[in-house]
Amino acid sequence: KETKEQLIIDAGQKHFGATMCKSCGMIYIASSPGDELQHVQHHYRFLEGIKYTGWKKERVVAEFWDGKIVLVLPHDPSYAIRKVEDVQELVDNELGFHQVVPRCPNKTKTFLFISDEKRVVGCLIAEPIKQAFRVLSEPTGPESPSSKECHRAWQCSNVPEPAVCGISRIWVFRLKRRKRIARRLVDTLRNCFMFGCFLKIDEIAFSDPTPDGKLFATKYCNT
Ligand code: ACO
Ligand code: ZN
Repeated sequence: KETKEQLIIDAGQKHFGATMCKSCGMIYIASSPGDELQHVQHHYRFLEGIKYTGWKKERVVAEFWDGKIVLVLPHDPSYAIRKVEDVQELVDNELGFHQVVPRCPNKTKTFLFISDEKRVVGCLIAEPIKQAFRVLSEPTGPESPSSKECHRAWQCSNVPEPAVCGISRIWVFRLKRRKRIARRLVDTLRNCFMFGCFLKIDEIAFSDPTPDGKLFATKYCNT
């Protein structure tokens, strides 16, 4: 009911500029009927996708004042796998990834950050890797023409370095960003990826990072 109210309030303010929905985080032009329709469609699908009802057998690997991290493994019950698939679909949509098939689906580890409001507000998907290529340089020019293709074209070394764990996706719900959720997901991953050891920073690698992903990774790896 809280979300419906929000929709009416948003639709009532006839904005000409962009608005951000306070429940689903989508940015849209409230005065444009096409945008409004797209928002309504996204709104319910998204909130349904991140809804977390709680599972009988959940693997809680970390607990915090504002939520907890649950680990899902490939052979977990189908309700857990289905939730992971739903969340991954939302994430891939936002990242513009299409049908990226994991290299070893039976070795994938998915970490979900569950908020106190029983929502999946963070997701990290990791897989074992053997090597990675270091990113060499920063993109050139201040705010260079920012097409998506440009952003992904970081220069990488062609010398492979040994690595253990690849982060294929990391995502935090737009309205929960900059609350150290991504940082806590990576810390938990390092602690849980291999039994009995805490992975070193240079044993993990971020695959194909977005601009946000690179800003986060740079900061994380230097602290
Ligand atoms: N701009 C600048 N610095 C940033 C940003 C940013 N957008 N995001 C994180 N940082 C840095 C900050 O220094 C931050 O610390 P501070 O807030 O104290 O300054 C530090 O990283 C830790 O950030 P967190 O709060 O832990 O990061 P957050 O929970 O906001 O999640 C994430 C970061 C996952 C990149 C989020 O912005 C997101 O989901 N973005 C959209 C999806 C995306 O692009 N994901 C990465 C894809 S790449 C991949 O999956 C391999
Ligand atoms: Zn919305």
